[in-house]
Formats: sequence, structure tokens, C-alpha cells
Amino acid sequence: MSVAHGIKLLGVLGAGQMGTGIAFVSALRAKVPVLIHDRSQEQITKGLALMDKLLAKDVSKGKLQAAEAQEARDRVRIVDSLDAMRDVDMIIEAVTENMDLKRTLFKSFAETLRPDAILATNTSSISITKIAAAVIPSGKTAASKEGKEAAGRVVGLHFFNPVPVMKLVELISAIQTTPDTLDRARAFAEACGKEVTTSQDVPGFVSNALLMPFINEAIMCLEKGTATRDDIDKTFRLGMNHPMGPLQLADFIGLDTCLSIQQTLYTGTSDSKYRPSVLLERMVDAQWLGRKSGKGFYEYD
Ligand code: CAA
Repeated sequence: MSVAHGIKLLGVLGAGQMGTGIAFVSALRAKVPVLIHDRSQEQITKGLALMDKLLAKDVSKGKLQAAEAQEARDRVRIVDSLDAMRDVDMIIEAVTENMDLKRTLFKSFAETLRPDAILATNTSSISITKIAAAVIPSGKTAASKEGKEAAGRVVGLHFFNPVPVMKLVELISAIQTTPDTLDRARAFAEACGKEVTTSQDVPGFVSNALLMPFINEAIMCLEKGTATRDDIDKTFRLGMNHPMGPLQLADFIGLDTCLSIQQTLYTGTSDSKYRPSVLLERMVDAQWLGRKSGKGFYEYD
């Protein structure tokens, strides 16, 4: 029997492409009111403009009634602080891939939000178990009732980009996550129209433990001159029917994100097979971050 997610109000922290996409599917598909916060006004403006564009496109294609689009848009409200999210039933964090930043944020979630709110992270590789350990109340141990209850509410909900299009959410359990948190997080992802797979909390989970070494190897192929950029990508588009070749996909994900995931795999396993490609490191040093910065393996307007 499926479990009710019980989410009547959702918070989304971070209005980049992932946070915006998560807010979009939550408001449109799960029909849940969403409060979204980002410290960058520019990011918020861009995120809302993207949402308006996607809704308008679905209306113009006849996939959505104008009234439904308006209702979805009205469900999304911008707030200017975490304090304004204190009544949410679940928060989904979608900020940059930085362990210290995420641990600091989760500590403040635990201090600010309701004690029964689910605390989810959209991280694509960072240990959910380490993030969960950050929410234990000061003065309490991990083994105390309060410590277990707090950490038990933390879960990984890994969406894929572009969130409105990709059908999957990867559900990751920290070793502290309770079965109730997992069941409700799964039910929420399903209400957003997603299929759910589960992964243990290992570096990169299933998706990026497999995808990033593939992308990294493709970059090494380019670095060694094994083939040209276009032939590497064409091999996978035409030879394996991938929608994008690995270099194009790396640009799409963001080279900084690819590098940080690859570094998490490398440091998390101490296995030299995960060493990031020097070319990837240099490109990130140069701020050639892919599509979002206008230049990566390809150039963008
Ligand atoms: N946001 C929302 N919708 C988008 C979109 C975006 N950024 N980009 C494209 N779409 C929609 C289009 O509007 C279109 O929708 P309709 O069918 O309703 O018109 C549909 O997607 C197809 O778009 P296009 O026809 O313009 O282009 P396409 O057929 O080339 O598809 C693509 C674009 C869906 C991005 C496709 O190239 C693709 O699937 N690429 C691979 C994406 C992928 O692998 N994502 C996972 C990255 S890994 C990750 O996210 C996790 C991580 O941890 C790093």
C-alpha cells in the first residue's frame, strides 16, 4: 500500500536550475504550495522567468490549460529567509555541491523548522550520512532519542536535469534515515510524476558513481588526442543512442559540478581510477563551466 507523503507546504532552498525545476514539478504535478528562497535576487528572477516560460510552452502546446498553469504559478511564493519557511512539512536543499555549506544549512534547518519536517537534499554525490550528523541538537549525542529523531528526518532526493523532463528521482538513505522518512520522500517524488530508484549512501550513489567516470574518461580521451570532441560525442549519440555525447552532457551539467562530483568519488574511495582529468580541472580554473558560463567544450550564446 502506498504511503501518503503528507506534504502540505514545501520549502525549496536554492533557485538554480535544479531548485527551480523541483519547485516547478512540485507545484504543477504534486500540486503542493512551494516557498522558494535564494540569497541571490538574480537567481530568483532567472528561476521564475524559466518557470513562466515552461508553463507558457505547455499551454501553447495544449498540454496544459491556462488556468492550470496559473494555479501552478500561484502555488510558488518567494520568501526572503529561512525563517519564513518555519511551517514547511519538507524542505529540499538544492544549493551548490559543498559539504560544509550543506552541513551548516542543515543545522539551521533543524534549528528553525518544525521538529517533524523532512529535511531532504538534492546533492548528487555528497554523503547524506555526514549531512544528517550535522542536525543533532547541541549537547545531545547521536545515540540519544533527540539525536536519532533529528538525523532520522534527513534523506537524499536526487532529481535529474532538466527536472521537468527527466523521469527519475534517486532516493538515498543515510544510515540514520527512518523508514517513515524514506516512505514519505518516495511518495512525494512519485506525486511529482517521477519514478524512484533507491541507492545506498556511497560516493556518487548509483547514478554518478557510473556517469562521472564515463564523462571523465571521455575528457581524458580528448586530452590524449584519441579522437576529436565531435567524434567522441557522435560515437555515443549515434553508436549508443545517447541523447547527448559525454562532452556535451558535461557542459550541460556544468564542468564545476562534474569536477566536484569526481573529486567526491576520488576522495571518498581513495581509488586512483576516479582521479579527475587534468583538462577538466584546468577548464574549471579558467571558469569555462559549460553552458551556464557560455563556454565549455562547446560555445553558447
Ligand atoms: N527545462 C525544461 N524542459 C526542457 C529543458 C529545460 N532545461 N530543455 C528541454 N526541455 C524540454 C523541451 O521543452 C521539450 O519539451 P516538449 O517535448 O514538451 O516540447 C523536450 O524537453 C525536448 O526538448 P528539445 O526537443 O528542445 O531537445 P532534445 O530532444 O534535444 O532534448 C534534452 C533535450 C531533454 C535535454 C535531451 O537532450 C536529454 O535528455 N539530454 C540528456 C540529459 C541528461 O542526461 N540529464 C541528466 C544529467 S545528470 C544529472 O542531472 C544528475 C547529476 O547529478 C549530475
